[in-house]
Amino acid sequence: MNTDIQESFEKTRIAGSIAAAALDEVQKIVKPGITTDSIDKLCYEFINDHGAFSAPLFYRGFPKSCCTSVNHVVCHGVPSEKVLSEGDIINVDVTAYKDGWHGDTSRMFEIGNIPIKAKKLIQTTYQSLMKAIEILKENVHLGDIGSVIQEHVEAEGYSVVQDFCGHGIGKAFHEEPTILHYGKKGTGEKIKTGMIFTIEPMINIGNYETKILNDGWTAVTKDKSLSAQFEHTVGITKEGCEVFTRSNI
Ligand code: MF3
Ligand code: CO
Ligand code: CO
Repeated sequence: MNTDIQESFEKTRIAGSIAAAALDEVQKIVKPGITTDSIDKLCYEFINDHGAFSAPLFYRGFPKSCCTSVNHVVCHGVPSEKVLSEGDIINVDVTAYKDGWHGDTSRMFEIGNIPIKAKKLIQTTYQSLMKAIEILKENVHLGDIGSVIQEHVEAEGYSVVQDFCGHGIGKAFHEEPTILHYGKKGTGEKIKTGMIFTIEPMINIGNYETKILNDGWTAVTKDKSLSAQFEHTVGITKEGCEVFTRSNI
């Protein structure tokens, strides 16, 4: 690998591991009765304590350090005094910015005991991300990524959100290319060694359509069906990829 790629991988590895470790901490506190603001506070402090910044804070006017998306919220839920209840599902999305580079990751958390249909949605969404990661290597088409995700989740009767996508990431939070979570094999750009991007499928039990609430951020399913999401930041190599945002637990 050339030295530019080596440097970008090294820096993203550090930012990514801070982001992943923040979510490992979230896992320890999520339970019925806590507020989404308390998750935000933990992420803010953990990321700062590790010499990094929370990239979402003030990004395009976003008011908090992470996104907390509960039940039918698809993404970009804004932490608040909202109290989590038994049976809720929540996605927490964090991005650490350290030494000029970003690491972006999100996971689902279960609040107490959750319904089996929510468990199945979460499981299938996670599998779709990991299946996409498994096919990554130099010269894979972008369309192959979307196709793997779409085929896996549609086999369960779920739908892929189309209004939000994965993205290149590096010195900028969001950059080229756009990573669609649906598509056709063999179409689109071929990925190259050294590319760093996120894959972050949002999967709904019902229809794929979303709308944005009046706060200008919170995206929800139009039909109010449950939605789940997982996100990793990955770097492409000749033989495969490196996942920069793996959990340590
Ligand atoms: N972390 C989100 C992503 O995966 C972006 C959040 S932007 C914010 O791309 F402003 F909503 F925080
Ligand atoms: Co992202
Ligand atoms: Co994210």
